[in-house]
Amino acid sequence: MNTNLEAEHDTVFGKTFALYDRPEMEEFVGFFRQRFAANKLDARAIFEGRACLDAGCGNGRGSIFMMSNGAKSVDYADISATNIESTGRNLKSFGFDSVKGHLTSLEKLPFADATFDFVWCNGVIMHAHNPDKCLRELARVLKPGGQMWLYVYGSGGVYWYAVRRFRNIVREIAAARCIAGLRLLGYTPRFVAEYLDDWKVPYLRTYTDADFGTRLADLGFARIAPLPHGVSYDTSERRTRFPEDAHWLGEGDLRYLVKKTGVARAGGKPISASEYGSEVDFDPRIPKRFAHAFDRLEQAVEGDPITALAACGRIQFRLRELMSQDGRLDLDAWEQTIGEVQSLVETTRG
Ligand SMILES: C[S@@+](CC[C@H](N)C(=O)[O-])C[C@H]1O[C@@H](n2cnc3c(N)ncnc32)[C@H](O)[C@@H]1O
Repeated sequence: MNTNLEAEHDTVFGKTFALYDRPEMEEFVGFFRQRFAANKLDARAIFEGRACLDAGCGNGRGSIFMMSNGAKSVDYADISATNIESTGRNLKSFGFDSVKGHLTSLEKLPFADATFDFVWCNGVIMHAHNPDKCLRELARVLKPGGQMWLYVYGSGGVYWYAVRRFRNIVREIAAARCIAGLRLLGYTPRFVAEYLDDWKVPYLRTYTDADFGTRLADLGFARIAPLPHGVSYDTSERRTRFPEDAHWLGEGDLRYLVKKTGVARAGGKPISASEYGSEVDFDPRIPKRFAHAFDRLEQAVEGDPITALAACGRIQFRLRELMSQDGRLDLDAWEQTIGEVQSLVETTRG
């Protein structure tokens, strides 16, 4: 029951990240620029002259971000060979050398203690087979006084509720078929990657700051709050701007810029590797309002993979659109979309 399913990352992440062209990479890196600016972080002051690790590099946008802000060097590491290739190709197209790729799990990094001034780990830990082991390795290879950027998903909220329902709906469709189906439906690489990342990744956990931030403190990092700002659709940004929507948004994205100020202390509670991460139920208002609609949808698309992908894609796209709009989250509009999708699915199925 403890089988390591990380081999699937080469399809789920590798085959989707490989689809990005140069303008798509620029847009993808741009989200980091926007998040740094929103939180008033000076990227040049943080990265200039630093030896950096991009841990779980995907197609290398973190590496590009650090190098374009003056990093002295970047070592990039990922468990997917396709991602190591894509990152190498993308770094070359942006004209960066002083970079080196490592095909490895974060569980056992091929670096001596205290090798790096900066460790970047964006959107990785919650997808790892053994998240705590990875986290301990990141702390080990970082120099005392060094900084680490970490992003993990925050628990709860309508977005993760919907994703959990979509995962169930597309469970029987192989990842490679999902990629082909979503491309057939006209989704750009960004959305193909995003949907695969949400729907087909073998491990998708969400955490609370109480769990994750406490664990970082155990591992020798100064305890700080997650960054409050981001791009318009980030749940952290929305929670900061619209606290009255907190029950729909959940914990909010957990993005930390932490400093290693001490040494890891023995003991402490490892970060959870259970199916869902921190043990938090969705606010009961979420299933109360949406469970029935998703139950109906699940029945309506059963046995029809392309319709299932089209329906889930449409509903997730609309939610992302609504989360990008200014103002409180318009869940009436989302409910209307779910209803429209349901009725279209029923019509197409005759
Ligand atoms: C959601 S992607 C994030 C990619 C990149 N950091 C970004 O922000 O665009 C997660 C990445 O983590 C990698 N990954 C997952 N588990 C890993 C592990 N145990 N060791 C190394 N890489 C891992 C996956 O292959 C994938 O490239």
